Amino acid sequence: MKKAISDIDPAWLEGRTAVVRADFNVPLDDGRVSDDHRLRASLPTLDLLTAAGARVVLLSHLGRPDGPSPELSLAPVATRLTELLGRPVQFIGELDAGKVAAAVAHLPAASIGLLENTRFLAGDAENDPALAASWADLGDIFVNDAFGVAHRAHASTAGLAEAMMARGGEAVAGLLMAKELLFLEDALLEPERPFTGILGGAKISGKIGVISALLGRVDRLLIGGAMANTFFMAMGLDTGSSLVEEDSLDLAKSLMEQGGERLVLPVDCVVTHELREGAEARTVERSEVAQDDKIVDIGPRTRAMFAEAIGGSKSILWNGPMGVFEIDPFAEGTIAIAWAVAAACDRGALGVIGGGDSGAAVERAGVADRVTHVSTGGGASIKLLAGAKMPGLDSLTEKG
Ligand code: 3PG
Repeated sequence: MKKAISDIDPAWLEGRTAVVRADFNVPLDDGRVSDDHRLRASLPTLDLLTAAGARVVLLSHLGRPDGPSPELSLAPVATRLTELLGRPVQFIGELDAGKVAAAVAHLPAASIGLLENTRFLAGDAENDPALAASWADLGDIFVNDAFGVAHRAHASTAGLAEAMMARGGEAVAGLLMAKELLFLEDALLEPERPFTGILGGAKISGKIGVISALLGRVDRLLIGGAMANTFFMAMGLDTGSSLVEEDSLDLAKSLMEQGGERLVLPVDCVVTHELREGAEARTVERSEVAQDDKIVDIGPRTRAMFAEAIGGSKSILWNGPMGVFEIDPFAEGTIAIAWAVAAACDRGALGVIGGGDSGAAVERAGVADRVTHVSTGGGASIKLLAGAKMPGLDSLTEKG
């Protein structure tokens, strides 16, 4: 078990500097943060540290830039954080290590400074030890609260933890990181049953690890989204012009063998000829997909069947949309699942939503505050559930 910031004596934090890695990889629109969920999720850790009298140096990546690019600056994040916290967050736009250190040295006690996008420096993704050491030198303790990027071994994640420990400091999980682990790891390790998994999204290949891992743990695994098409083709069904991973057909067959009756596929689907709003769409049985049809959502019978399974569950884990939910009329299946999960949670079930699209779906359905936990990590939650290596976590100090 890893040490968390809540395990550190607040008296020790007073007057010290905490280097905090957050995941502020958020959408920007016209120079403003257009979705601040990840920012809000980081507030408890920031409040804990500043209340204890620690100075906070925040680091995050934004996007995947090749070098400095003004449109991916974290300056708008500092503005939004200032609003959310009701106290100033000073933006430190320097990239040169010496200038960063000088700016940090001028931060008042118990204040917060946010450094520029870590990925403006190539050494972040390369896990450059010198860069990691320059960040570790800014503080007395490293707090990793960036669950969304815990599957990456970058200088600002695993490298920084190692560098902090090398200089005698500790590297601990932030409150958000600890909460993500509580729901995605601990709670689902010995879930109350029935335990239902729901997986969607485009590709089987990207989620093979999580499909196999879940098949070994759930009572039922409901599959929707384009990944169901690959299973349909593996069953010999016509999928028309739908998205199918033809090189994953054998994989689909072996997963169906492994899953048996636990793996549940849609029985009907919504099809269209064009992927655009206002396009004509119809509902067909899965055996009736015509040559020029594209499957874009689960059908009403499937929605009802999935909702019944979800309603009878005590633990639910959902990752990935049931259709092309970015296009309004094809979002209905995904929204129906969001409602079903929320209703189950209202009755006391544990409902955990993976980040990314399914997180966006519960938001859009207006039920995010009714489900037990919405993860802030898309790729990271998939990796964690699949039992993959998580360098951002593995590198943290063990709880002694
Ligand atoms: C995410 O949005 O999933 C995380 O911030 C990780 O981003 P990355 O895939 O660019 O590392």
